[in-house]
Amino acid sequence: MKILSLESSCDESAAAVLDSEQGLLAHAVFSQIELHRIYGGVVPELASRDHVQRLLPLLREVLTAAKTAPQELDGIAYTAGPGLVGALLTGAALARSLAFALGVPALGVHHLEGHLLAPLLEPEPPPFPHVALLVSGGHTMLIDVQAIGAYRLLGQTRDDAAGEAFDKTAKLLGLPYPGGPELARIAALGRPGAFVFPRPMLDRPGLEFSFSGLKTAVLHAVRERVLDDTLRADVARGVQEAIVECLCVKAVRALEATDCNVLTVSGGVGANQHLRESLSRRLASRGGRAYYPRAEFCTDNAAMIAVAGLARLRAGQHDDLAIGARAQWALDTLPAITET
Ligand code: KG4
Ligand code: ZN
Repeated sequence: MKILSLESSCDESAAAVLDSEQGLLAHAVFSQIELHRIYGGVVPELASRDHVQRLLPLLREVLTAAKTAPQELDGIAYTAGPGLVGALLTGAALARSLAFALGVPALGVHHLEGHLLAPLLEPEPPPFPHVALLVSGGHTMLIDVQAIGAYRLLGQTRDDAAGEAFDKTAKLLGLPYPGGPELARIAALGRPGAFVFPRPMLDRPGLEFSFSGLKTAVLHAVRERVLDDTLRADVARGVQEAIVECLCVKAVRALEATDCNVLTVSGGVGANQHLRESLSRRLASRGGRAYYPRAEFCTDNAAMIAVAGLARLRAGQHDDLAIGARAQWALDTLPAITET
């Protein structure tokens, strides 16, 4: 089975072609970062309008790269939620219309299922069952993954997501949008121990996170001080260490709670090098192992949507003719996958 996939849930337009035998044939991403930079965050209406312009050229680009004619496609997967509803609708409308014209099934994929399955794109995929740490701009979750389609939420954030905490504290430090990667870059220049920020929820049992207090802590730290490069780097290092420690401690706790020693890490924050090194070190010391997608499959992309879409389309799942999208969508309400 050969499928096309589209992603347009936020500020990345993306397309991919995946073959059940040959693997990923092509994928392309267009990031709208430049468009939103002057506003310091994603402007939903601008995002939707830009997806309308980008998706069709991206779709043509991946089909050409995959040496695939539209008539050779056996199905089309697209991100149906959660995300910005206008942005989602642009991808949904294109995918559904094309599928109708070609007479093939279309399937709306859950964006987080895409992130969860991104590690399967790697040459050495993780075994099942495993625990997934999903850390993106909108979500911070620990999930018990028994199989593709069998997910149980173990814990999540009570307020800000880990990526949001990176982005918001970066903004307070005056770093350019998007702040996460930039904060990580300057954190490497900071002095260890110069700032130690609170690690909320670590002293309590359970698998919940809370990152909203970090913003206030950072505000206090920089108040009435000259925000020069040294101070920025020191604070960035302290912020990154606090976020990463919370993620590592809870991830290890989730492995213990499920009696498992395989962890996957996905979502944009999964690209963070300090997180990867800390997790791998902690897991190695207890005989466990962490699996990561390459950095380009951590942030939003269509290859991960194709992996989830292919699994479900092969199992005979598909949508009806209505074009729809879901701003909110609970992961554990997804139908199970039973091979036909
Ligand atoms: O998964 P993603 O591309 O989009 C969502 O579905 O949210 O994640 C984007 C988030 C942003 O908050 C961004 O700042 C963060 O991932 N991010 C990083 C890094 N690269 C991306 N955060 C920390 N370190 C990084 N290297
Ligand atoms: Zn995402």
